Amino acid sequence: MIVFENVTKKFGSSTTALDDISVEIKQGEFVFLVGSSGAGKSTLLRILTKEVSPSSGKVLVNHKDIIKIKTSEVPHLRRNVGMVFQDFKLLDDLTVFENVALTLEVLGKTSEEITKEVERTLKLVEIWDRRNLFPRQLSGGEAQRTAIARAIVGKPEVLLADEPTGDLDPQTAWGVIQLLNEINSWGTTVLMATHNAEIVNTLKRRVIVLKKGKITKDTKEGKYDI
Ligand SMILES: Nc1ncnc2c1ncn2[C@@H]1O[C@H](COP(=O)(O)OP(=O)(O)OP(=O)(O)O)[C@@H](O)[C@H]1O
Ligand SMILES: [Mg+2]
Repeated sequence: MIVFENVTKKFGSSTTALDDISVEIKQGEFVFLVGSSGAGKSTLLRILTKEVSPSSGKVLVNHKDIIKIKTSEVPHLRRNVGMVFQDFKLLDDLTVFENVALTLEVLGKTSEEITKEVERTLKLVEIWDRRNLFPRQLSGGEAQRTAIARAIVGKPEVLLADEPTGDLDPQTAWGVIQLLNEINSWGTTVLMATHNAEIVNTLKRRVIVLKKGKITKDTKEGKYDI
């Protein structure tokens, strides 16, 4: 479960990226986060991975106050809260296999466990046959599936996606959405920021609308209506 309680994030003195946000997301939900550019979507997601710390308020992930956790606990938080980005953020000098393995290496898993889990995950996202290629050799869809594999290999309870289909052609984008839907169907909470109205309107999931750092709508089977 994710809880934001009166969360405000200011950058400097003039920008309020999030303005007194309170929201609860239950385990297993699929939630779209929409709103115009600059509304605060990425900031909200980055708070959940502890890339950004709020100026005030409380953020709970599975009843744990993530603002208070120690730096040494951050790798465990990130295993539990996977994140994928529009531009994939894969490491160029590592292969597909190595990019995904890295998530488990930082958690101190044995090499047997790593090999087994990476193989399972790469097969799941259907890029096992691409495992020895480098990111520059991949198509956009393959790169995004590698990034998703990296985010889910540690079996996170929450998967965050920041415009994961932003750079993909429509057909490839749908493949990525199907994969996120499948991951969600196994019980993983999915929180996805997007500008893609067609995807939001077709899936009919919960839609949270942000406007200038405030939640202006929160609809159960929502539409893209910013
Ligand atoms: N590191 C930062 N330093 C200063 N200002 C920032 C920083 N990150 C975000 N902001 C500002 O906070 C506001 C919210 O930005 P954010 O990236 O969360 O928007 P967004 O909804 O994700 O937009 P987009 O749809 O364009 O990705 C913007 O005004 C942005 O300029
Ligand atoms: Mg953004």
